Amino acid sequence: MGAGFAASFHLRSYRQVKEIPVEIAAIAGKTRDHAEQLAGRYSIPKVYDDYRSLLADPSIDVVDLCVPNALHLPLVLETVKAGKHVICEKPLTGYFGLGEPEGEVGAVSKRKMLEKVRADLAEVSRAMAEHPVKFCYAENWIYAPAIRKALEIIDRCVATGSILEIRGEESHSGSHSEYSKSWRYAGGGALARLGAHPIGAGLFLKHFEGLKKAGRPILPVEVFADGVDLTKTPAFRTVENSPLVTGWKDVETWAQVTVTFSDGTRGIFYGADNLLGGMESTMDIRLSNARLKLDICPVRICQFYTVDPAPVRDVYFNEKQETKAGFSFPSPDEEWTLGYPHEIQDFMEAVALDRPPLSGLELAKQVVEVVYAGYVSMEEGCKVVLSPT
Ligand SMILES: NC(=O)c1ccc[n+]([C@@H]2O[C@H](COP(=O)([O-])OP(=O)(O)OC[C@H]3O[C@@H](n4cnc5c(N)ncnc54)[C@H](O)[C@@H]3O)[C@@H](O)[C@H]2O)c1
Repeated sequence: MGAGFAASFHLRSYRQVKEIPVEIAAIAGKTRDHAEQLAGRYSIPKVYDDYRSLLADPSIDVVDLCVPNALHLPLVLETVKAGKHVICEKPLTGYFGLGEPEGEVGAVSKRKMLEKVRADLAEVSRAMAEHPVKFCYAENWIYAPAIRKALEIIDRCVATGSILEIRGEESHSGSHSEYSKSWRYAGGGALARLGAHPIGAGLFLKHFEGLKKAGRPILPVEVFADGVDLTKTPAFRTVENSPLVTGWKDVETWAQVTVTFSDGTRGIFYGADNLLGGMESTMDIRLSNARLKLDICPVRICQFYTVDPAPVRDVYFNEKQETKAGFSFPSPDEEWTLGYPHEIQDFMEAVALDRPPLSGLELAKQVVEVVYAGYVSMEEGCKVVLSPT
């Protein structure tokens, strides 16, 4: 479901699935035109105008939701109730308004938002308990080769050591989607949109460490956060000709959250729209006996320098790179380094071989809980205790 940006890279990943026979049976978009274009490009036999037709199609086993954030929760519930496995893009859900005027959703009390998302998460759990289908959470960081290698190393290091601190960041110069500028459609700002990636990976790694050491996960228990729309500060008002995206409505463009884990260790996660030079997705994992520094994006295996970028104008380098002048690091296979093919491979194996996906419902729920507890913390200026899972 969906025929935009995420649908395109998911479709390219389905083409790379090994050993599991996968057929893309149908595609549905809000309007027919984009869905038909993708159907032509990826030889998809059926195009539906309405997602309900896709859910009613008995030939379909798995529905992959590549739709805007506000549709994730209702479509997850409908898909699960239709007895189909579901893949859900991040985030699983958020607060998108309960009748408030569009520009005022971001001003709603964050406690009220947290209560609403907790009720929604409980509803997803109930639906999943009643239907024997898989929930796959499309958090690509879990599958990024840098994180997978780190996992192999951490597996050995935590036999005698502990992860004491994880610092993770995903930042760039700002989304160009108008929807992302409004809480009503995005369900939050930089924390929900960008910070969700390092938060997901950080929670996943501590969960893994706990299982490895004591047979039970190490969980997030408390958050403390800060956030602001930097383009609305006095400093930015005097600025001229910035390449940063502007026009944000009621969402933050810079956010940082400190997570306390059940073993007393910390994770610091950033998401920001104030970074020039292309998207950066990084993680610094500080153990008692080792350190891992991960560059998920960009990677530096190809380095390029030019004074005049005109000849390479049509060569793809990296997401959100403003200029190719000076030194840059063109990514030979950005989708591979971001983990998209590995993610879809795991989901197809989980369904075909009837095993849980690496990235599933509990992680999806915890990320939403951390993000919205983070919003409460930003508003109230205090630490916020997470609900036990
Ligand atoms: N993991 C990642 O790195 C990553 C990257 C980009 C986007 N995403 C996620 O993917 C999701 C989609 O984002 P995008 O960038 O592809 O957005 P997009 O606007 O490019 O595409 C959204 C698609 O949803 C379709 N749609 C809207 N309403 C629909 C409906 N009622 N029924 C069926 N289709 C409908 C639209 O027609 C459009 O094709 C978002 O949740 C976003 O957070 C994840």
